[in-house]
Amino acid sequence: EQIEKGGYDHFMLKEIHEQPSVIKDTYRGRLHADDGILRLGGLENHIEKFLNADRIIIVACGTSWHAGLVAEYFIEDFTRIPVEVEYASEFRYRNPIISEKDVIIAISQSGETADTLAAIKLAKQKGAFVYGVCNVVGSSISRETDSGTYTHAGPEIGVASTKAFTTQITVLTMIALRLAKAKGTISHSDFVRYLHELELIPTHVEKALQTEDEIKEIASVFMNVRNFLYLGRGYNFPVALEGALKLKEISYIHAEGYPAAEMKHGPIALIDESMPVVVIAIKSDHYEKVVSNIQEIKARKGKILAVVSEGDKTVREMADYVMVVPHTPEALSPLVTTIPLQLLSYHIAVMLGRNVDQPRNLAKSVTVE
Ligand code: G6P
Repeated sequence: EQIEKGGYDHFMLKEIHEQPSVIKDTYRGRLHADDGILRLGGLENHIEKFLNADRIIIVACGTSWHAGLVAEYFIEDFTRIPVEVEYASEFRYRNPIISEKDVIIAISQSGETADTLAAIKLAKQKGAFVYGVCNVVGSSISRETDSGTYTHAGPEIGVASTKAFTTQITVLTMIALRLAKAKGTISHSDFVRYLHELELIPTHVEKALQTEDEIKEIASVFMNVRNFLYLGRGYNFPVALEGALKLKEISYIHAEGYPAAEMKHGPIALIDESMPVVVIAIKSDHYEKVVSNIQEIKARKGKILAVVSEGDKTVREMADYVMVVPHTPEALSPLVTTIPLQLLSYHIAVMLGRNVDQPRNLAKSVTVE
């Protein structure tokens, strides 16, 4: 097992650090920015299905559901096709309205999650076209779907999903860009620009990983806290949810993720000097708004742990601690903003002596209801 961990203390840490290379593996052979090429084998013959769809419904569970939420933002943004994101477990039991005009995207690392599999079967019965985004080759979901794209994350052993999440987002971004190109909702120059930006992501992730020592420091300050709040807006709202989930899963500290503006509608009541608030405050269209959210937290003496873009000054001055990530277009930012949050939960859990790779009560793949 020590050999399999490749010198890391835990599989989770190894998998966090593998992200630059597995993200590259995921787009390798599919994307060539210099030639303006993006080709997904499973998608090419079905592009019309997507373009003629009334809507795309994404079904998934857990972390994969969070990847689906990120995808909702960029699929709608790039393609103007309406997207809904559903928990597979809710979708299958609420007599959903599905027709042949719907396209379903099922996202699953393991390809074995019982609720996701059942949701796919239901959608197929109703005549929808089902596309899979799976990691495990030959898994039940990959066999049950009409077509799909594999993430090439390699085996993920740690129960808390890390590299599966970022490779799912990589695949879903490529799907969105490919559809947008076919539909003409993206200009050629923007398309090529995004391909180049995608090719830069592994380097950006590598850079984000280099802040690990600073994140360890932050972890040591907050390891004994009982509650955390995570806030993000736009593309980074799902990242806030995922950051909170990671912390809950492996450290057993209660954490909630919220869209930053929703804070006023409840969570703000919880904020006092003992409440750390992780705020994703990178340079984006929402930057000023997030800055005012931070002011509201500070006015109530909450502790600010901000994820900021390189070169940021405003938030750095306001925050108690910062986690710095390289600048990317906002649509790709979840691929980098998620990195410090993975490291933060990992180090808090280790400091608390938790069983990081196999947290209590959780399973890597939930094959029963
Ligand atoms: C379990 C795992 C999570 C995972 C979820 C969905 O809860 O612990 O890490 O996100 O199942 O799994 P899937 O294999 O369908 O992505």
